[in-house]
Amino acid sequence: MSFEIPFQLIKLDLKNFLLEPAKRVKEVKLSEMKEFFSDSKAVEDMLSAGRDPVIYKYCEFEASEEFGDMIVGLTVIYPGRVGKEYFMTRGHFHEKDSGEIYYCLRGSGMLLMQSKHGKVVHAEFTRGSLCHVAPGWGHRTINTWRGRLVFLFFYPSGSGHDYGIIKEKGFAKLVIAEGGRPQLVDNPKYVGQ
Ligand code: PA5
Ligand code: NI
Repeated sequence: MSFEIPFQLIKLDLKNFLLEPAKRVKEVKLSEMKEFFSDSKAVEDMLSAGRDPVIYKYCEFEASEEFGDMIVGLTVIYPGRVGKEYFMTRGHFHEKDSGEIYYCLRGSGMLLMQSKHGKVVHAEFTRGSLCHVAPGWGHRTINTWRGRLVFLFFYPSGSGHDYGIIKEKGFAKLVIAEGGRPQLVDNPKYVGQ
């Protein structure tokens, strides 16, 4: 990997929550992540009522796909719930065990991390939080606030994303609203890795 020009300025647009230039820009609607929410009846009720909200969107800047380079991205998770479960990202493991760094720009929520053996750890994630997620841990971000949760993330190019395990088995814990407050509870559907 060699670059003629050794730097690139990336525009961080905090009005529209975009990076420019961005290579991957994606909006994820409820219909695209049905299996990731635990209350399948709540999912079906929303969709059959014609409600298919955008749960989150993200964009990534990647100068090259080669290992040794870095990706920076920006995610916005909208406020809301599916049943009692807060809006959240799908969550994934990196295909190549690589770490990730998160920096929260706005809002308040939680980072949920799960080992390949199903051990779950959570971290509060609020404006100003700078959090390192270790290699080998699956990770999901949850918005428990009434506004948008906005954060930057940084990880090595070529890491890849594996959504399969989480889609199939979920996380061992869920973050739900109980009495209007976020609670971490056991996922009744979780059967282990
Ligand atoms: O790489 C990450 O961990 C992230 O920042 C996400 O890719 C982003 O938030 C979207 O989540 P997911 O990839 O789980 O849909
Ligand atoms: Ni990641």
